[in-house]
Amino acid sequence: MLRLRPYKSCDAEKIVGWIRDETSFWKWSAGRYDRYPICAEDINAEYDKYAFSDCFFAMTAFEDDGAAGHLIMRFLDEDKKILRFGFIIVDDAKRGRGYGKNMLLLALKYAFEILMVEKVTLGVFENNEPAHRCYRSAGFHETGAVEWYRIGDEDWKCLEMEIRHPQ
Ligand SMILES: CC(C)(COP(=O)(O)OP(=O)(O)OC[C@H]1O[C@@H](n2cnc3c(N)ncnc32)[C@H](O)[C@@H]1OP(=O)(O)O)[C@@H](O)C(=O)NCCC(=O)NCCS
Repeated sequence: MLRLRPYKSCDAEKIVGWIRDETSFWKWSAGRYDRYPICAEDINAEYDKYAFSDCFFAMTAFEDDGAAGHLIMRFLDEDKKILRFGFIIVDDAKRGRGYGKNMLLLALKYAFEILMVEKVTLGVFENNEPAHRCYRSAGFHETGAVEWYRIGDEDWKCLEMEIRHPQ
């Protein structure tokens, strides 16, 4: 059974171990870390920046044998009605088995029922088909907005996706 809990600094070691190559790293981080590879301390240092913020929440999905996935949630607006998911990742040994979708459904439940937001957004690179499909499967849809990122010597198209509170 997959469950969701707040992130703990001991999760970082596992998360960095799930990123196996540089291309996956850029797809996951979209340049929010400026170099590859990163270590556990980099993740904790990044999240520590928000230690006194009430707009950023890191979460970990876990089951009996430990952490299985991770994501962050941050408010985009002063009213705290729009939440953005990021750094979404599943243990690389567990991908393609429904973990990502399940984790997102738990995260959406938290967003809509506990944080009481109206809308959840995220961005996904067009070249990240597993992630794109996973987000669609969890109920997100494309807004039509796109943003371009310079990754190495390539331009990557990032698709904006969102899901609104089920009325
Ligand atoms: C993106 C990610 C979280 C998806 O998690 P996952 O556990 O592998 O996905 P799931 O098994 O829950 O699959 C959900 C849906 O996506 C589809 N999907 C998953 N992997 C796929 C693949 N490699 N190719 C095609 N479709 C795929 C599944 O078929 C499923 O669709 P369905 O519900 O219609 O049957 C995972 O691949 C990952 O950690 N990727 C590396 C980090 C990353 O790139 N994160 C994205 C940042 S934007």
